Amino acid sequence: MTSVPLPPQTTTGTSASAPPAAPTDLPDPTALGLPITDPELASRLADRLTVVDDVLSDAVSSADKLADGASRHLVDAGGKRFRPLLTLLTGELGDGAAPGVVDAAVVVELTQVASLYHDDVMDSAPMRRGAPAAHMVWGNSVAILVGDMLFARASARVAELGPEAVILQSRTFERMCMGQLHETMGPDDGEDEVAHYLQVLSDKTASLLSASARLGAMLSGAPKDQVEAVGAFGEKVGVAFQLADDVLDVASSGETSGKTPGTDLREHVPTMPVLLLRRHVASGSATDEDKDLLATLDGDLSSDEVLTAALQSLRAHSVLADTRELAVRWAREAAAELAPLPDGPVKDSLEQFAQALADRAV
Ligand code: IPE
Ligand code: IPE
Ligand code: MG
Ligand code: MG
Repeated sequence: MTSVPLPPQTTTGTSASAPPAAPTDLPDPTALGLPITDPELASRLADRLTVVDDVLSDAVSSADKLADGASRHLVDAGGKRFRPLLTLLTGELGDGAAPGVVDAAVVVELTQVASLYHDDVMDSAPMRRGAPAAHMVWGNSVAILVGDMLFARASARVAELGPEAVILQSRTFERMCMGQLHETMGPDDGEDEVAHYLQVLSDKTASLLSASARLGAMLSGAPKDQVEAVGAFGEKVGVAFQLADDVLDVASSGETSGKTPGTDLREHVPTMPVLLLRRHVASGSATDEDKDLLATLDGDLSSDEVLTAALQSLRAHSVLADTRELAVRWAREAAAELAPLPDGPVKDSLEQFAQALADRAV
């Protein structure tokens, strides 16, 4: 397949080391949704995540009955809580018990949830976190307003964390909007589609993972070089994460992802496998089958039969393997950003975090 842009190389650090084997007498290492194998760290993070969930539940409640049901819908439906977990984890670089760390974890999950209300409207997605998407239950207007309300709640909460956190949160919010805007508008004439798309991923997804990592380190009082390192880690791991998500839209079952497979394809939302196929066809070396598949993907996918057949063809196509490979490379590059961190369970867990995100795609 034609070459695709690789993650920018780091000048320091090493590639991700293999995760250590989990000793057998530990609690389930995936109980947190991520393989954190140090038992004391896992237990501290699990305790704090419980507090985050309690505060979050409060943060999405409302005295208004309609607002209350709609705004707690997605938080109650579950979710992986990767972003707050990342904040709690990088909080361990300083004083993880510092009061701002838990609040920051709540802020990043509120921001995430708010963006999901909006995203499902824009993508006409029927299912989210294993539940009907909010717009399917209450309609687009309510879903958009609830998303806005949750962004407002995140803003009020981040104000308690000081001006640096406020600026970071607002820049992140702006980047998420810009990423979404550029995804919606597509590349300018003559602009490389794949490079444009990587910028979209960086803005719409990696910005929040980076902010999640930065806030934890910052508010725990970690040294500045470590705050920068985890911020750079988040920028790259976020791209890996969204590339893995693109693979999952094609390859996963709805039961594991909690989302309807093929949603992006059906709505012609750009994803890396389709962009790689388009680039391949444009190169002139594609087979008739590849050309037919691209024509199908660009056509009307409203029929379940047509969508299922397109999904099957894409699953077997090398562009899916190429996207997986790209996700793994971005995750490896992310791990290399962790070089300034002291060796120990936090660094190991962040490396495993990167590995786990990339593994989602495999
Ligand atoms: C969904 O994020 C939005 C993307 C950036 C792909 P997650 O896959 O982390 O969704 P939840 O929070 O676990 O529901
Ligand atoms: C979501 O992107 C990005 C957000 C910041 C919400 P997608 O539209 O690709 O994510 P999913 O697949 O619906 O979760
Ligand atoms: Mg979506
Ligand atoms: Mg989307």
